[in-house]
Amino acid sequence: MSQRIPTGPERQQQIYQAGAMGRKPTIPLSYSDLEALAKSKLPQEAYDYVAGGAGSENTMATNLAAFDRWRIVPRMMRNVERRDMAVELGGRNMPAPILLAPVGVLGIVHPDAELAVARACKALGLTMILSTLSSFTLENVAELAAHRWFQLYWSNDQDIAASMVARAEAAGFEALVVTLDTPIIGWRERDLQNAYLPFLQGKGLANYFTDPAFLKPLSKSPEEELLPAVMRFAQVFGNTALTWSDLAFLRGRTKLPIWVKGIQAEEDARLAIDHGANGIIVSNHGGRQVDGAIGSLTALPPIVEAVKDRVPILFDSGIRRGADIFKAVALGANAVLVGRPYTWGLAVGGETGVREVLLNLICDLDLTMGLSGCATLRDVKADRLHAV
Ligand code: FNR
Repeated sequence: MSQRIPTGPERQQQIYQAGAMGRKPTIPLSYSDLEALAKSKLPQEAYDYVAGGAGSENTMATNLAAFDRWRIVPRMMRNVERRDMAVELGGRNMPAPILLAPVGVLGIVHPDAELAVARACKALGLTMILSTLSSFTLENVAELAAHRWFQLYWSNDQDIAASMVARAEAAGFEALVVTLDTPIIGWRERDLQNAYLPFLQGKGLANYFTDPAFLKPLSKSPEEELLPAVMRFAQVFGNTALTWSDLAFLRGRTKLPIWVKGIQAEEDARLAIDHGANGIIVSNHGGRQVDGAIGSLTALPPIVEAVKDRVPILFDSGIRRGADIFKAVALGANAVLVGRPYTWGLAVGGETGVREVLLNLICDLDLTMGLSGCATLRDVKADRLHAV
């Protein structure tokens, strides 16, 4: 059972009451303080892996700057006494328009990794999108996550791709998220400088190391001999040869709704729908793939226009606070994904850290909505924004 999520004022009260008894919040409220605390607790290379992006990291900065180009126009006297931020997505009612973005190899920031994230999500009734590159197997995580979607990195070995999809469906994942923006890993200067890629140490490969199609050609198990297994992973991970018509391969292998993640161009949104996608995730992978790319929020309005309500749209890359969620929803996203914020929460406080970060985000959004005259997400429309 998930807990009732407090309203913004209830959470403020809880925090001030605890403060009166001498207990200050242990998980920083501000994003930059949260990241700084995580940095102080993590090995440099793990911190850099999460914090970093492609090349000059200009896309990461642009993602954040894109939010500043929109300002909220608060409206008064609209009876916001009862506020509700529930949203229906894929036939399920979600308590808040927030899903947890797939973040790979969480074991480098906390030993409980995806298990802690699954428990935090369950407590709040939120949906977790599990990465292919998880530190625990998808079956392990499925036991703990009440609402779960599986993110697929589409291997160039179709047997592995098909096997992972079948496993996810058998384990009760409710949707498939196919990440299209990472057929190969971007030029990440921090990781190259640290000469650090966790997968090459066998980390984040639990789903591969338990997959029959992956293991088939290996003469020894990864536990017995790591190097050949890691080399096989490096060979099969991505698929640069894919074209839109290949989406039929996945469509033919699963009944699950298919969301495509990494869309930034309106034409790609149209093509995705034409080829059977059930949902679009507007994302630039948190600026980790293409240096010098447009801010993800800048990509959102034209895609919303092109999709014309044919399928739902999720948004990510740069969500840090309630106001950011408000702006993305006002510009047409049905809900958002959050990546680094909960990862830092995990780093500083495990399951509690993830839960606290998410609660703060939700309560911040509740207050932003109420103070802007929006009782429900239906009121969060483009007319509440001013372009600067
Ligand atoms: C990611 N992201 C990601 N995406 C995906 O589809 N599969 C994955 O395994 C990962 N792994 C991953 C690791 C790390 C450390 C980060 C920071 C991100 C991208 C992620 O799902 C999401 O698109 C971004 O994190 C969103 O941007 P913000 O919220 O981090 O700004």
